[in-house]
Amino acid sequence: MPAAPPPPTLLGLVLASLAAAALLYPVPVADAARGSAQSTVAEVTLPPRFLSRGQTFRVVAGDTLVLPCEVEDLGSYVLLWRRGAAVLTAASLMVTRDGRFRLVDGYNLEIRGVRPTDAGDYVCQVSEADGRDQIHTVEILVPPSIRVSPGGGRLQARKGASVTLECKAAGNPVPAVVWTRADAALPSGEPALEGFSLTLERVDRHQAGLYRCTASNGVGSPAHLDVRLDVLYAPEIEVERSWVHSGEGYEAQLVCIVHGQPPPELMWYKDELAVEPSPRRLVESRGSRHALTVRDVQGADFGNYSCVADNSLGRAKKHMELSGRPGPAEFLSAPFSPAADSYNLTWVVESYPPLEEVRLLYRRLLVNDSHMAFPGSWHDVILTPRNTDTFTHVMSYTIRGLPRASMFEAIVQAKNRYGWNEVSDMFQFYTRGAGEYDSEPEMAERELSAANLSNSAAAAGPRRAAAAAAAALAAALAAAVALAQALALAP
Ligand SMILES: *[C@@H]1O[C@H](CO)[C@@H](O)[C@H](O)[C@H]1NC(C)=O
Ligand SMILES: *[C@@H]1O[C@H](CO)[C@@H](O)[C@H](O)[C@H]1NC(C)=O
Ligand SMILES: *[C@@H]1O[C@H](CO)[C@@H](O)[C@H](O)[C@H]1NC(C)=O
Ligand SMILES: *[C@@H]1O[C@H](CO)[C@@H](O)[C@H](O)[C@H]1NC(C)=O
Repeated sequence: MPAAPPPPTLLGLVLASLAAAALLYPVPVADAARGSAQSTVAEVTLPPRFLSRGQTFRVVAGDTLVLPCEVEDLGSYVLLWRRGAAVLTAASLMVTRDGRFRLVDGYNLEIRGVRPTDAGDYVCQVSEADGRDQIHTVEILVPPSIRVSPGGGRLQARKGASVTLECKAAGNPVPAVVWTRADAALPSGEPALEGFSLTLERVDRHQAGLYRCTASNGVGSPAHLDVRLDVLYAPEIEVERSWVHSGEGYEAQLVCIVHGQPPPELMWYKDELAVEPSPRRLVESRGSRHALTVRDVQGADFGNYSCVADNSLGRAKKHMELSGRPGPAEFLSAPFSPAADSYNLTWVVESYPPLEEVRLLYRRLLVNDSHMAFPGSWHDVILTPRNTDTFTHVMSYTIRGLPRASMFEAIVQAKNRYGWNEVSDMFQFYTRGAGEYDSEPEMAERELSAANLSNSAAAAGPRRAAAAAAAALAAALAAAVALAQALALAP
């Protein structure tokens, strides 16, 4: 700001106050000397000269600042401090009513508790002397602060929407703003992002949580603002196991993992009837995990259960079965037989009640030189299980008279008093033979290509897929066998 001279009215005011204070203004040295006895020294006077220099001061808001003004040979001139048009001091007289200002050690101007509004130019001026002034520039450094964005640091967004988190930071110099998240990386994958705002695209529950903006400008300590983002979405359910095996007199637990915002209400149903909690049917929730525990399972407890989650945005439902039927068989034997003409197939079936019947189906897989597989016909073996006291039924069946160096596949099904279980996954096994016995890599290669070609869905997939694949293969069986025979590859 240019150091404009004070307007006449204000100057008049100042002069009046100076007169009242019995000071002379302006006071040429000769006049003052005339009134005194020391008239001899008065004639030779030097003009006033500044010893201090105009400077720029950068101070932190709240601090105390001293603006120097040292003048040599002031004589009877009067020293004024001005800020723009306003006169702050005249000689040793305080003109400003602001109690934070005072003169120290002569004419140095002290300002206590500086404020952002104190920024600007301060002029120390020698009265009457044209161009005799000194200008200090004051800049107030302000530590960062953050204005809380609307919503009081809490934001809500629908799933799929875009959200912009804002952090309006002030300070001098202008602060740098950085966004971080409490326990995770930002949705973009970065640990931190710079900017006054943070935009999140297509939010889902993984983006919900606490975001923090930190503003810093090197003055004072950084300022923080925490913004909580709530993502609203209709309930989503995952069932822990869609098929739960149990037995009469035992305990069973059905579990639904439920997410949703607002937090959903959860209801359990059995065969479309609401489950009334009782000491035998316990309903518990811990966080997103909701469990229905059935104690002392009765025959009537088996069936189709569902959990239904509701909130203001929608409803979700998932089914699961509590079953007394055996669990699906799992094969335990190693795929490579130590023998050339037999294979000891071993599997395990879980069943609470005794097993009544077990069925094993196996067939040969023929592979030609281009790794095309042709299934042979199914061999069906009905087994009468020897039941023990355990629920885990380990069973073996040794298949004899097998061709050497060959590949086979098998499935197993078991039945108890509640019915047949789901068909096992397809299992592949091999017999040893000349040329094959000492070249296992070739065996492995065949296994790979067979898994690839015969029915990769069954080999890798879930039980239903295995059953479906088995049915599909059975349908193609006649044609395949005919073809195999035509190629003279049949067993
Ligand atoms: C359970 O019931 C639902 C619908 O009521 C049905 O879609 C589902 O297939 C049933 N599941 C079983 C295993 O019966
Ligand atoms: C087949 O293997 C199972 C499990 O290793 C074993 O208990 C059983 O005795 C074997 N059977 C024959 C006939 O070797
Ligand atoms: C293998 O079988 C496929 C399909 O029938 C046939 O096209 C191919 O020629 C056979 N390869 C050999 C080497 O026999
Ligand atoms: C196995 O399947 C993959 C992909 O389907 C195919 O690229 C590959 O050639 C197959 N391997 C053989 C031995 O046929």
